[in-house]
Amino acid sequence: MATATDRSRKPRQSTSHFSSAQKQSLRRRLLAWYAKNARDLPWRKSQDPYRVWISEIMLQQTQVATVRDYFTRFVAAFPNVESLATSNETEVLRLWEGLGYYRRARQLHAAAMKVVEEHSGEFPHELDALQSLPGIGRYTAGAIASIAFNKRAPIVEANTVRLFSRLIGYTGETTSAAGQRTLWQFAEEILPQKDVARFNQALMELGSLVCTPAEPKCHECPLASVCAANAAGLQREIPAAKPKQTFTELREAAVVVRKNGSVLLRRCGEKERWAGLWDFPRFELEASGPLFAKREIAEKVAAQTGIACAPGSLFKTLRHGVTRFRITLDCYDAAYLEGRVRANESAEVRWQARSTLPQLPLSTTGRKIANLIRD
Ligand code: ADE
Repeated sequence: MATATDRSRKPRQSTSHFSSAQKQSLRRRLLAWYAKNARDLPWRKSQDPYRVWISEIMLQQTQVATVRDYFTRFVAAFPNVESLATSNETEVLRLWEGLGYYRRARQLHAAAMKVVEEHSGEFPHELDALQSLPGIGRYTAGAIASIAFNKRAPIVEANTVRLFSRLIGYTGETTSAAGQRTLWQFAEEILPQKDVARFNQALMELGSLVCTPAEPKCHECPLASVCAANAAGLQREIPAAKPKQTFTELREAAVVVRKNGSVLLRRCGEKERWAGLWDFPRFELEASGPLFAKREIAEKVAAQTGIACAPGSLFKTLRHGVTRFRITLDCYDAAYLEGRVRANESAEVRWQARSTLPQLPLSTTGRKIANLIRD
């Protein structure tokens, strides 16, 4: 183990370098720190596996500060697994709207139905059974088993990847197979015999509050004296930076086709970016210049929906990012000319009264457009 005074040593790449005494000390200090510093978060008020599950799925790609309110609203609407299982996917997506990564919400609903049908409404305790539920991977299974059932199950997620790789001085790529093996092994190695629920939450809390991505607060860290990165002065270099994301620019059009008090909407198909959510007809725009754009828009709206329309003004341009795309979205008005709505094989299409848009789960930009046309 590297010590604080041993700055010349290179951090090691293997994980079995904490003695029993050092692990004991790490656990004791970590739990003492957590007792003083744990945030009062709504999902920490009980060990109900349903609540642990919902919170962990929400926290997978979203910050704690955002998740707080979403979690509270979600469990108020669906207080247990039965109520979620008997809801419909549209209600679930409406509550999820704005959180992103909508597949999570759809899998949540599917998993709730499976818990009710195959496990009589009780969450399984075993990792294998948990992992066979839609949307539950190795991390979420470990979180539910440890936090709700106090099982000796390891966890590795964004906060603990950072904390563990610094503690053991792992300089390799953390997402590689070797990196993952090393980190999961370490997570297992340091688990205590009991109090695993608090221990795992304390690890994530320390990662989140102290062992932060930029400028970690090593002077406040209860584990600084056993941290290899701290000893080697490498806490800013570890974990290794991910290769920089390269972005692809896209130009798209969204079209508000109006007919009396209604607008034309389509429900995004399984393979689309916002599967399950509703959106205005939307597509990539190739034409440059408004004249050609209008012809292309009329053709593409007809192909997507069966409706002939007369595109009018460009009333707003929105810019947003989704995964590796940077999208410039031109929002057009259009008047209904003729035709009946026709769903294609993947997406449902319908006229929707404008006044009912607040109840429908919409894509992020769909909601922005709905707000723009509200008055
Ligand atoms: N990130 C993921 N799960 C978490 C949890 N239970 N507490 C704090 N941050 C988290």
